[in-house]
Amino acid sequence: MTSRRVLCVLICAFSLSCCASSLKSNVKPAFNIQELTVTEKDLTDCRNYKNVCVMDSSDCISTATDGMLKVSRTRAENFVNTSCHYLFHEMSFTCRWIQLNKDRREIINTFIISRAKDITHCPSLLNLYSSFYLTIKSKNVFNQNVIFSAVYKVKLNEIIQTPRPVITSVNTTDTSLTITWTSGKGTITKCLIRHKHLNESWTETAVFPPSVESLIDGLQPFTEYSLSVSCVNGLSRWSDWSAETRVKTSESRPTAAPSVSYYVSSDKKSRIRQLWLLWKALDTKDARGLIRGYEVSYTPIKQPSMRQVVYTSDLKTVVSIMTEEYDVTVAAYNSAGQSPHRRIRVHADLPQDVPAVKGLWVYSEGPSLRLHWEHEFTAVNVSEFAIEWHCAENKDSSRWERVNGSTFTTILTGIRPDEIYNISVYSVSDTLCSRSTSISANLQHGTLLDLVRFRLVNVTKSSVSVQWVWQETKLSINVLQYRLVLKGKHDSQSLRIFPNTQQHSFYNLQANTRYSVFIHGETTTGNFSKASLDVNTPLLDYEEIVKLAVPVLFLVLGFGIFFILTRTVWKEYFFPNIANPGHSLIGRWLLNPHYEGSDKICVQQLDNFFVVDQQTERNIIHVEHCMSVVSEDEDLIPSKICSNCEGTTQTLWKSNSDYEENTQTPSSVTEYINCPIIPANLDYVQNGQIPG
Ligand SMILES: *[C@@H]1O[C@H](CO)[C@@H](O)[C@H](O)[C@H]1NC(C)=O
Ligand SMILES: *[C@@H]1O[C@H](CO)[C@@H](O)[C@H](O)[C@H]1NC(C)=O
Ligand SMILES: *[C@@H]1O[C@H](CO)[C@@H](O)[C@H](O)[C@H]1NC(C)=O
Ligand SMILES: *[C@@H]1O[C@H](CO)[C@@H](O)[C@H](O)[C@H]1NC(C)=O
Repeated sequence: MTSRRVLCVLICAFSLSCCASSLKSNVKPAFNIQELTVTEKDLTDCRNYKNVCVMDSSDCISTATDGMLKVSRTRAENFVNTSCHYLFHEMSFTCRWIQLNKDRREIINTFIISRAKDITHCPSLLNLYSSFYLTIKSKNVFNQNVIFSAVYKVKLNEIIQTPRPVITSVNTTDTSLTITWTSGKGTITKCLIRHKHLNESWTETAVFPPSVESLIDGLQPFTEYSLSVSCVNGLSRWSDWSAETRVKTSESRPTAAPSVSYYVSSDKKSRIRQLWLLWKALDTKDARGLIRGYEVSYTPIKQPSMRQVVYTSDLKTVVSIMTEEYDVTVAAYNSAGQSPHRRIRVHADLPQDVPAVKGLWVYSEGPSLRLHWEHEFTAVNVSEFAIEWHCAENKDSSRWERVNGSTFTTILTGIRPDEIYNISVYSVSDTLCSRSTSISANLQHGTLLDLVRFRLVNVTKSSVSVQWVWQETKLSINVLQYRLVLKGKHDSQSLRIFPNTQQHSFYNLQANTRYSVFIHGETTTGNFSKASLDVNTPLLDYEEIVKLAVPVLFLVLGFGIFFILTRTVWKEYFFPNIANPGHSLIGRWLLNPHYEGSDKICVQQLDNFFVVDQQTERNIIHVEHCMSVVSEDEDLIPSKICSNCEGTTQTLWKSNSDYEENTQTPSSVTEYINCPIIPANLDYVQNGQIPG
């Protein structure tokens, strides 16, 4: 029974000491504090050794004879700074020491008490006038190693300690605490109070007279403090510090005004504008309490009676204004009152040039969402980015985060699974801000956008342009980032792509080279290729081909025209046509001696002129007075002979080409042949024999 209690006490003491030491500092200590307390009930006699009292009868074997203990193994580093005290009213004896051994596994400590003379009754040993020798035994439960401390000489009346006080109540105001405590039996002569805020170090008050109520002031409002009390009783030692009590001071009015930025959505058609006002949550130091909401007022400067007031608990509000100048104020309030007002002048018509954030991307990272964005650097200095996120279904539950202007990523916490979140980012430059850029995401899939329809839009000898489309989806995969990569024999380029870009051109490429362009997705488990295409850059661009071809074409055309002209001129003036009857059928026919039966002399009359009969485009040959006009190099076939009047015979000829080709072709030179009056007996046409 007793040993079980002792074990319990030991374990409690051990774990308490561990807690105490781990609370003391966040850094893992290289030692641990051991504490062991005995009361009269815990001590038993040793049957064989009358001068020894132990807590566990098995320890009797470990002790030596002759009144003094012969310690088998002592290790000084396990019992550093050992100190003991005696609580008179509880009749309890406690020792504390530091164990430098890093082995923190379970250890059972026991006391072995001895005297030179026999001890008549061990339980009554713990009285005020008692003195004895003390040895501490430490046993490692795992490897059964036992070590003993040195032998300490103890006189209980010299180590009496005041009992630990107990804090019974604390009353708070915004800057002060009133504490009451009890301190057991006996007369307290003085007390000390210490307090601290979170992990800061303790601040001790001056020594108080022995009152049981005390006031500490000069504290921060709405701040949590830890308190404990220690007292001293007459000539005895200071008590241990009481158990820590945590209290929070009450709220007071916020001390600072929220910093406000705005932008006016510009719809040029209407006189009504939307005024977007964003402000930053106050620091806890300035808020001095839980901010319940914000009071926003806006007043047209020319009509102060038109002042309007909006109350909201969000960090943003959107109100409709007219195109004029407004005076806007924002103040925060908590249960204690209102902060000072922030006042800004809003010009609804002045252009605002704070650039909006460019590309947004979200992926899930454990239980949170990781947000990335891109920002274009312009003349306007962006001092901060404001990030707003809320469930798509509950727009009133917005949460906000602010980061400085050189940060382009943040973690969004408090994300519930199975909820879709709308995330917006605003760039803030002092009292101006940009419009928001937004994206939807959830914890399962990250950004709810898929990249589709990747295609080539243009290729020149030194550039390649590609295009793609972002499509909303509820089942995307959690992609950390998409990269657009171009790889060729000699160069490779790669860039991160965000949903604000839908096309990209790679420049400075080599002509007549094969490139592969692909989109590459990165996930925590590996990379994958989203889409890809291969492309060959041409040797020449279309413009270049045109540039080269047009002059050549003109040159050829010019040469052609020149050639035709020169040929005509040449012929006309230098080598005029001289008809050669030998080249004409009729000529040949006429010249043929076979038909020259009579002694008539034929004279050729050269007279070229055109006759175009629109209807039939026939070539007409007049045969008259034995004179013939013959086109030089055309094969002519007789088609009809018309004898219309006495002395004149008309023969119609068609050129060979007219039989085959379209009648559009320019008519060939007509032959007028003047023939002699043919005697009736000479029927040459009927023969139709054209000598070859
Ligand atoms: C032991 O006590 C001494 C004196 O009080 C102190 O300087 C030393 O740091 C203590 N040792 C440990 C391990 O705390
Ligand atoms: C932007 O910031 C830089 C350095 O902080 C400063 O020199 C510059 O004047 C600022 N520009 C504007 C328009 O405020
Ligand atoms: C901006 O914030 C980041 C992260 O909080 C910090 O590391 C950085 O020093 C800050 N930069 C400036 C200029 O304050
Ligand atoms: C994925 O690609 C990136 C480069 O975009 C590379 O740094 C990373 O190591 C790749 N991860 C795996 C698992 O291949």
